Amino acid sequence: IWNVENDVGNQKSYPQIVDAAVHLRKNETVAFPTETVYGLGANATSDEAVEKIFLAKGRPSDNPLIVHIANKQQLTELVEEIPDKAHLLMDAYWPGPLTLIFKNKPGVFSKRVTAGLDSVGIRMPDHPVALSLIEESGLPIAAPSANRSGRPSPTTAHHVIEDLDGKIAGVVDAGETGVGVESTVVDCTSDIPVVLRPGGVTRDQLEEVVGRVDVDPSLKEGKGAPKSPGMKYTHYAPDAPVYLVEGTREDIQKLVDARRREGLRVGVLTTEESASLYEAEVILTAGSRNDLLSVAHHLYDTLRAFNKYELDIIYSEVFPEEGVGLAVMNRLQKAAGHRILRP
Ligand code: TXA
Ligand code: MG
Repeated sequence: IWNVENDVGNQKSYPQIVDAAVHLRKNETVAFPTETVYGLGANATSDEAVEKIFLAKGRPSDNPLIVHIANKQQLTELVEEIPDKAHLLMDAYWPGPLTLIFKNKPGVFSKRVTAGLDSVGIRMPDHPVALSLIEESGLPIAAPSANRSGRPSPTTAHHVIEDLDGKIAGVVDAGETGVGVESTVVDCTSDIPVVLRPGGVTRDQLEEVVGRVDVDPSLKEGKGAPKSPGMKYTHYAPDAPVYLVEGTREDIQKLVDARRREGLRVGVLTTEESASLYEAEVILTAGSRNDLLSVAHHLYDTLRAFNKYELDIIYSEVFPEEGVGLAVMNRLQKAAGHRILRP
């Protein structure tokens, strides 16, 4: 563990970062913080290095990785072409939680990064530690979220260690991440940009800059295969099955009561506003209903926290699919394996 929590912002580069970068250059895997979640980084140009990411995560090999860069100038050497709308989006939201899909330039990245697609996802994270680590390594860094495949993404170094201890060279610890859900993935290879994965930058924010933006129709329940390979896997799931309830607090309490009468141990995922009004074995809150950013920030930590209790079933409230709420609901639907109750 390279702890840099007290150094963040003080200087551009510090000995811990220099040391971590040496491991990246040796084609080893290093976990590091970004503004969204912790990533598991490796040299994106090396098959050997990228293979280690897939092994450590237990990730299906058909799921491509996002490449992280430290400055926009790097981009011209890495992709086939940069469409005008991509320029506009980069100017507005890089560094930041926005991944853009470009036409892949053959021979630049390991084929393991793109999983055989002719496109590649690239982003410039808005975190001083991530940026100085990438810069110090001198490499484009492939980095998926630093969790075991299928588990909630890590928002602390502790989460990374929980999942990947002994499987990676190390983790740079800079405390909690900010946004809490991953970057928005946007395909810019078509005329009208398409959101493949909702995330930290909202659809409204994208449309402010480039006009009309579509959302991949498969993100709506059960409509065809998603264009972003990663979106088809169950993900973010706690050990106990999660059910989303589109109903009132009273509806949820009735479900809880029925399960408890059957002798089951029940968890509820709610917000600060309602936490004290439920009765169940475990009631966990992810932020405030009036502030969806706070729900995004706490979501993964809360999903992980349910595993500390031996629960049989978890009921979760739902949120409006507006702003960052679209990303929150997308992750909750995946955590629930799309089990949605409408009492
Ligand atoms: O915020 C984030 O994006 C975090 C931090 C670490 O940067 N990274 C992250 O990576 O979430 P990962 O691997 O967990 O998710 C990458 C997503 C997957 O859904 C993957 O299928 C999609 O991006 N993706 C990557 N390359 C793609 C491509 N060429 N075309 C379509 N989707 C792609
Ligand atoms: Mg992930």
